[in-house]
This record gives sequence, C-alpha cells and structure tokens, in this order.
Amino acid sequence: MASEPQGLPFLCWQQQIEEGKSLGFDPEHRGRDSLFIVRRHGKLFAWRNACPHKGYEGAPMAWRKDAYLNQAGTHVMCSGHGALFDPETGVGLPGPCSGRVLEAITITVTPDGQVLLGADQTKEI
Ligand code: FES
Repeated sequence: MASEPQGLPFLCWQQQIEEGKSLGFDPEHRGRDSLFIVRRHGKLFAWRNACPHKGYEGAPMAWRKDAYLNQAGTHVMCSGHGALFDPETGVGLPGPCSGRVLEAITITVTPDGQVLLGADQTKEI
C-alpha cells in the first residue's frame, strides 16, 4: 500500500514507468498534469509540464495523456511545435527550443519503489 514515509506526496510506483515511457501527474489536483516523469537508461527524470518555447512559455507538452516522448521514446517532444529535449538533462535540441531547458522537478524513490514528489530530507546531500 502506498504511504508517505517522508510526508511527501506519492506519485506512483517506480515500476509503473517503463523504459522509454513517460507518465504525467497532477499532484495539486488542478485538472491537468503539472509534471511528468520519464524513464531513460533505467533512471527516472521528472520535468515540469511547461514548454520553454519563447513566446509559448508554460504551454503543456503532451500529445495526449502521458505522451511526452517522441515515437522512438528517445526524447521528450512537445506537442506544440515539435521541440525535442534530452530526457536526462532537459536541454532542448536544435529546433524551436534550441538551448532552452525544461524545469527539473525533484522526486524521491524510496527503497520499496515509491516515487514521491520532493526531496527526502532525511538523506544527506
Ligand atoms: S509550445 Fe512547445 S515547442 Fe512550441
């Protein structure tokens, strides 16, 4: 059963996000996903669902629910104008968001595999 051992909001179980896939989350219950998590090379990376495209800053990025990646699952891809981002660094590739960066979201993965929103304050950095 999901719990919040550090008082951090529960997002999902880590195994729910498969390699090369993404999931969106609405932890503030606003009716649209404010962040998404991608699994790449076995690691999870969390980003705010807000495109940094100049003139369109903050636009939601998914093609449909949970679809934040290109077809090959290799890059984050914005539905607005097709900007591509490195899923591990958030850096925009040449194109509409060249050199711009996605806003990273801090998540914590507990030893039992819970993905929580925020930093585990019990661990030393
Ligand atoms: S709004 Fe994201 S690429 Fe234009």
